[in-house]
Amino acid sequence: MQTTLSFIKADVGSIGGHVAPSEHLFQTVRNYVAESRDAAGLIDFQMLTTGDDIGILMTHRHGIGHPTIHRLAWDAFHAGADAAKAQGLYGAGQDLLVDAFSGNVRGAGPGVAEMEFEERPNEPFLVFMADKTEPGAFNLPLYRAFADPMNTAGLLLSSEMSKGFRFRIMDVSYTQGDRVIELNAPENLYEIAALLRDNDRFVVEAIFSRADGDQAVAVSTTRLHNIAGKYTGKDDPVYICRVQKNFPATGEIIAPYAEAPFVNGWMRGSHVGPLMPVKSGCSISYFDGPPVITALGFCVHNGRLTEPVDLFAHPYWDSVRMRAANKATEMRRQGFSGAAMVSYGELEYGGIVKILEKLDERFVVREASHALAATGG
Ligand code: F6R
Ligand code: MG
Ligand code: MG
Repeated sequence: MQTTLSFIKADVGSIGGHVAPSEHLFQTVRNYVAESRDAAGLIDFQMLTTGDDIGILMTHRHGIGHPTIHRLAWDAFHAGADAAKAQGLYGAGQDLLVDAFSGNVRGAGPGVAEMEFEERPNEPFLVFMADKTEPGAFNLPLYRAFADPMNTAGLLLSSEMSKGFRFRIMDVSYTQGDRVIELNAPENLYEIAALLRDNDRFVVEAIFSRADGDQAVAVSTTRLHNIAGKYTGKDDPVYICRVQKNFPATGEIIAPYAEAPFVNGWMRGSHVGPLMPVKSGCSISYFDGPPVITALGFCVHNGRLTEPVDLFAHPYWDSVRMRAANKATEMRRQGFSGAAMVSYGELEYGGIVKILEKLDERFVVREASHALAATGG
């Protein structure tokens, strides 16, 4: 029998700015899900937070994109938004972008990562949640984990894994529908890299084992920017990743986060900062950041979830956090200049765009300087 994992997350309000949801808000969403679980046919669920986002991890048998499950998450976040308003929380209801809910949270504001599969006898998987960044932030860690033998020795050591992985990559700049391409590692390694170097535009949506076709990864690829047509916060993406046996080991999946790679997002969604691996439930701080990522490990059996294990709570990650903090400070030293801020098209606030529009008419066109030099001007 097939099990579905649905992981749906949203920012519906937080304390002290865009920092962390209140306990009351978190419990309101949790209680709503707990009270509705039987009617919706949930087998199990777990609640998570990272920064100002709340995630609902659900197991059921309905398959992906099912209206009952999406409606449950939507209504739970709405109950949370009401609680947030009642407490005067900042950004109450922020990610609930549509008035008329159509039965699927995709394109309505919340992020969603879902996967349906036949459970293995032992079914370990990981859930990642990031705050103050975009889904392209996962490109490099996923490339290294699933395509780079320098990171994942399993690609050399396991005959199943050495058959490689199929990457499904989405062009998130396309707004008329979903534009996707499928490429195989290792044969198409350079093509995959050529796309994934551009985190703003190309985003890993899913990865499949080529040994048996089984899905390993499902990423939320929503761009709030595209839905709302204006700034509503960065997407703060999530993903589900099955691990072990034909898939990379847990340690191989999380190891690339030791790079604390620079990603877009951070303050006002408009800066470039290191992605810091933090414990689940961690808030954000320095310049509304730096961008953070959490990773929880679970096992599932007949749809029942174990308790989570926090993968970035291990002492190893303290030194990575120190390094990420130093990278963050170094980048902030150069303020708005050059590489410290995202490109023009990715700016989340319109201020700079308006300044440039106003200045445009004040520019004067004069003869090119080499021509002036030739005439002695
Ligand atoms: C970034 C983020 C924050 C806000 C910033 C200003 O994703 O959530 O950095 O952009 O705190 O917020 P507003 O415009 O709501 O005052
Ligand atoms: Mg927020
Ligand atoms: Mg957030």
